[in-house]
Amino acid sequence: MERNQQTANDCLPPQIKLNSEVLEYLKTESLNFPKSTESDRDRCEKEICHLLSLLPIPPLFTVVRVNTLQQDPEPLLALLKEQLIDNHRKRAVQLAEPFFHPLMPDVVIIPNAGPVQSIERRGDQVVVDHMCGMSVLRGSEVFVKGIIGAPLDMTRGDIVSLYVDMEGSCLRGQTQPLKGEKIFLGNGVALVSRNQIFRDSSPDHVLSGVGVSVTNALYSAPRLDNLTSDLIFAQNLPSAVCSYVLNPRPNDTVLDMCAAPGGKTTHIATLMRNKGRLVAIDRTKPKAERLTSLVSCWGLTCVEVYAFDSTKSLQGSAEATKGPPYPPGTFDRILLDAPCSALGQRPSCCNKMCLSFLKSFPMYQRKLLRQAVGLLKVGGTLVYSTCTITLAENEEQVAWVLASFPQLVLTAQEPHIGDTGLVGSSLSPEHLKLVQRFKPDVSGDSKDAFNRDTIGFFIAKFIKVENVK
Ligand SMILES: C[S@@+](CC[C@H](N)C(=O)[O-])C[C@H]1O[C@@H](n2cnc3c(N)ncnc32)[C@H](O)[C@@H]1O
Repeated sequence: MERNQQTANDCLPPQIKLNSEVLEYLKTESLNFPKSTESDRDRCEKEICHLLSLLPIPPLFTVVRVNTLQQDPEPLLALLKEQLIDNHRKRAVQLAEPFFHPLMPDVVIIPNAGPVQSIERRGDQVVVDHMCGMSVLRGSEVFVKGIIGAPLDMTRGDIVSLYVDMEGSCLRGQTQPLKGEKIFLGNGVALVSRNQIFRDSSPDHVLSGVGVSVTNALYSAPRLDNLTSDLIFAQNLPSAVCSYVLNPRPNDTVLDMCAAPGGKTTHIATLMRNKGRLVAIDRTKPKAERLTSLVSCWGLTCVEVYAFDSTKSLQGSAEATKGPPYPPGTFDRILLDAPCSALGQRPSCCNKMCLSFLKSFPMYQRKLLRQAVGLLKVGGTLVYSTCTITLAENEEQVAWVLASFPQLVLTAQEPHIGDTGLVGSSLSPEHLKLVQRFKPDVSGDSKDAFNRDTIGFFIAKFIKVENVK
């Protein structure tokens, strides 16, 4: 049976639901880049439509990275197996057998399962928001914050069916079953009563924690919220590839320009064996504070975290400084994991982004790229990445860098697990082979399906060969 097939009319949508202008823009985006041929444009439109159809389906693999600074990988795999056995006992899921990625020794792959077609729908419905629903499809419990509707008489211990509200029509505290479009996620046991969630004046009102424990899930993936946070970090596979492509070495001076929540920061520092200097910047103070806690939890002393705007991280003078902004040519390696439209994230059933917001990202990314070019040493490495699918934020951005900064050379990546770039932009066929695009493939029939069934992601790697004039 096809993975996306369900019997009832509450199944995952056939493609992500987007604002109609955004959908049209994505399908015809390559018309904006006059160098593309008609056949490139046709191919590009087909590929984008195919990608949009895969976005609602959760990846069939969970990926975690282990903290090899604290322990050897093998005992960490054993620890992970114990947690999976516990998971298997508590939920009606088959026991997953985790394994190390063949090319990345600190990356563990855990097969997920689904969709399960035969789960009985219950009359008692708990309605959750889109974000909560997508997390449940990736193995999370239902947290109280994500619940928007529950039956009037729901008490602790009730068995309920879980639904995502697709139209945003459910009012907070709604008691009636949803009439509008919805997606069935599975069944669970309520750990709190309806009053505890919605009656703010109730003496036992709860604001956080698990509201419904999932027992039978449409897609089952390991619960990761109970994993040891100083030893294991859940990450999408392309994100782990990204840090390997940067190839940081002990004693390097490295800049992570957009670092929070810190998946790549902790990975880069681990690959540096906690030796050298890693500057991790994020614009907002609360995010920088959480990143500081994560870095300390992982025991990483080579990382300096700053709440700062990286579009201003290059200073005019050559005078050395401790924190940002920095003089030109300060860093051996720079990662720009750019803020982006995030349209590669899976699963995602609906996205309300408007076209002007989508179109705002390329200019913002260019501001950051200009700074990165100035901050890089001659001979240094710049890695640019996004978790989105648009040409303008990916291939076209690389074409712009090559045209604007002759001192940057696009270079091959190691490992190169993803596909080549998407045709339709101004990037030449030779350059398309050097960039790495993760175009999800959910057919699951290849031996390395864990490399293919990922989120949509893009990586480009440049070397600086001479100074900016
Ligand atoms: C794609 S996320 C980064 C994910 C991160 N690299 C990781 O692996 O966990 C982009 C981040 O860029 C940050 N950001 C956006 N604009 C920024 C700016 N001007 N300066 C620094 N950080 C910025 C956002 O707050 C967000 O945390």
